Amino acid sequence: MNYEKLFDRLSTAKNVVFFTGAGVSAESGIETFRGAGGIWTKLKPEELANFNAFLKNPDLVWEWYQYRRKIIEETKPNPAHITIAETENYFNNVTVVTQNIDNLHNRAGSSIVYEVHGNIERNYCVKCHTFYNSKDFTFEGKAPFCKCGGLIRPDIVWFGEMLPQDVFASAEEAARNCNVIFVVGTSAVVYPAAYIPIDAKKGGALVVEINVEETELTQMADISFFGKAGEVLPKIFNEFKKIKKLSL
Ligand code: OAD
Ligand code: ZN
Repeated sequence: MNYEKLFDRLSTAKNVVFFTGAGVSAESGIETFRGAGGIWTKLKPEELANFNAFLKNPDLVWEWYQYRRKIIEETKPNPAHITIAETENYFNNVTVVTQNIDNLHNRAGSSIVYEVHGNIERNYCVKCHTFYNSKDFTFEGKAPFCKCGGLIRPDIVWFGEMLPQDVFASAEEAARNCNVIFVVGTSAVVYPAAYIPIDAKKGGALVVEINVEETELTQMADISFFGKAGEVLPKIFNEFKKIKKLSL
């Protein structure tokens, strides 16, 4: 029944948005933040993901991000990222809006990826805003400094900080104009990012949630698939491919 309603909308959809969170990368081996075993159940975000904490102890914050970089570097996109990238074959415009900083949607081949919480591969100087790639440093326990003398920080949105305004504005515009939005692997509790599915709903989009459990969004979603993103997404689009072929 779910499929019928979904395929009906997908068959005429021109603009499709995927709004993703940590759950889309869980099957690549990257821990989520909330829920059983989540990062924020073991570590305090106020000590690691916060600008004042960074100024107080930049070496510790750098050590934490270098540790995460190493984990992320060793992972690869999973069938969920890959299926999302492949949907560009079926619709005019596919936009990925991700809260993830792991770069896996880009690595999977998605063309338009709005990273509303930043990207772990990028860093910038807090004084002059020069950008640096993470590969530009060999980390030896000390936070790096820019040529201008300023501290270099990861280009990640920390608690209490603004989202990159141009990126978020483009993401909201894509959400308002889409026909179908897939909300994949996010607890949908962190704002303003969590406005994206709300914007889409207001714009008349069909809201499809994919998650292993119920979330804050489930009530508002038109369709919910409970299962792993790396299994549910390939299943949906394999079926859709078959139907599309039949209707040609
Ligand atoms: P959360 O850790 O809050 O939520 C992850 C969601 O993924 C949960 O709803 C899980 O049920 C679901 N999930 C887990 N494994 C899954 C799988 N294999 N398939 C599908 N769903 C699965 O992560 P986010 O919603 O991304 O912010 O968190 C939002 C923001 O909070 C993050 O971007 C981060 C964090 O603090 C910053 O770093 C700025
Ligand atoms: Zn500088």
